[in-house]
Amino acid sequence: MNEIKGKFITVEGGEGAGKSTNLDIIKQLLERAGHPVLYTREPGGTPLGEEVRDLLLGHKHDGMADEAELLLMFGARAEHLSRKIIPALREGTWVLCDRFTDATYAYQGGGRGIDPKRIQILEQWVQQDLRPDLTLILDLPIEVGLERAGKRSAPDRFESEAHNFFQKVRETYLDIAKNNPKRVKVIDASLPLTQVQSQIKTVMGNFLAACI
Ligand code: TMP
Repeated sequence: MNEIKGKFITVEGGEGAGKSTNLDIIKQLLERAGHPVLYTREPGGTPLGEEVRDLLLGHKHDGMADEAELLLMFGARAEHLSRKIIPALREGTWVLCDRFTDATYAYQGGGRGIDPKRIQILEQWVQQDLRPDLTLILDLPIEVGLERAGKRSAPDRFESEAHNFFQKVRETYLDIAKNNPKRVKVIDASLPLTQVQSQIKTVMGNFLAACI
């Protein structure tokens, strides 16, 4: 993609992996290193995207077709890229995004069983050659994550899925990490918060050093 000056960083993880707390830490680390940061999320990040998020996470459309779910994810993503992510990267702002297309491979690919080749076609079509520069996957056993997520609020449409769904989501994330070792770093999110944060600091330190 032409004229991209900022870096694009994404954070992924299963339910209850502690994304919000750790995203705050990452944002602070980037800002302390002197980079302007746009913090955003998927699905969502724009007025249209947030409405699509409500459709996707709410229970009004329980049982929606897997393909409809996939296309809604990419519909929200197309809007997000064109209105927010790409303009920010072009002006030199670093974009920190809570989930992105790896989540589509994990949830719609792994979880729902959609052929990843179909996801790849949409990824190429919507993003062209834009991919994250760095992705952190907060990994932890399904049981621990679901228990943490369950304590927060009523389960959304994804959180209501069965154990097997989340197992496939986790396996897909770990496969993505194995196949993209330069871009994707796995953080053991089952450890106490201080240890999770020290892993994050190491990954971010290495990334920032490589950007100089
Ligand atoms: P969260 O951001 O609060 O974790 O909620 C977003 C939910 O949407 C989460 O369960 C993962 C799911 N999701 C997908 O299934 N596919 C996607 O491409 C994205 C971005 C999220």
